[in-house]
Amino acid sequence: MTRPRNPARRIALGAAAGLAALIPAARAQGQFRQRANAVAGPPQAKSAEERRILEVLEDVYRNHRYLSVPVEDGRLLRVLAESIGAKRIVEIGTSTGYSGLWLLLALVKTGGRLTTYEIDAQRHAMARANFERAGAGPLVTLVLGDAHAEVTKLRDPIDLLFIDADKEGYPDYLRKCLPLVRAGGLIVAHNMVSPPPDPDYVKAVTTPRWKRCFSTWTRRGWGSPSRNADAPGRRSNEKW
Ligand SMILES: C[S@@+](CC[C@H](N)C(=O)[O-])C[C@H]1O[C@@H](n2cnc3c(N)ncnc32)[C@H](O)[C@@H]1O
Repeated sequence: MTRPRNPARRIALGAAAGLAALIPAARAQGQFRQRANAVAGPPQAKSAEERRILEVLEDVYRNHRYLSVPVEDGRLLRVLAESIGAKRIVEIGTSTGYSGLWLLLALVKTGGRLTTYEIDAQRHAMARANFERAGAGPLVTLVLGDAHAEVTKLRDPIDLLFIDADKEGYPDYLRKCLPLVRAGGLIVAHNMVSPPPDPDYVKAVTTPRWKRCFSTWTRRGWGSPSRNADAPGRRSNEKW
């Protein structure tokens, strides 16, 4: 799982470690964010549409108690999606919509849509509310249910698949979604360092046919294999 959103949650998670150890950890996290913003600058809205999404992102970051990607990973997701001109994004593990909102910043630019899966009804409802108040509701299909079953109903091609749910489920998600990922599309998996990734998933994406990278730049770790086969835009029947 990813890091907690706010210091209160961090304390709740790490109570066994002792308060003295946790306060510096929370401070360090805040400092990490400040440093990242000092280098990259805070995200700048180029339109009223983007500003509305960024405002909700900030609010979710500050107030919600569920785990989600760090802000730096959200920014990376947006850049990845935009750089391949992704119009059809599938996310497994909506939670309250934080990473989805970052993806939506790309989708308002590319004119695309997000389909996102969540098994927990409360988080699903919170995500719906967050997408609505960000003005991005019409761009999102939220699916409540077990993504292992639900993704088998997908039929349309996928430009970017983002996996951020039950870690032992990654190989199954990959197996079920891969036939839909277009050649040249991206498969991004969160938490490839901590908790340790499923070895079957790692094996599946470390074939010579795939371009991939495992990045640990925000301490939790990304796995971002990109499809290597065929001409961009063509669907591939590659299996693993
Ligand atoms: C780490 S959180 C996702 C965080 C989210 N991507 C973000 O950054 O805002 C993982 C989510 O996956 C959901 N999840 C776990 N197993 C699932 C399954 N089988 N189907 C759908 N969602 C699942 C959990 O309920 C949880 O909300």
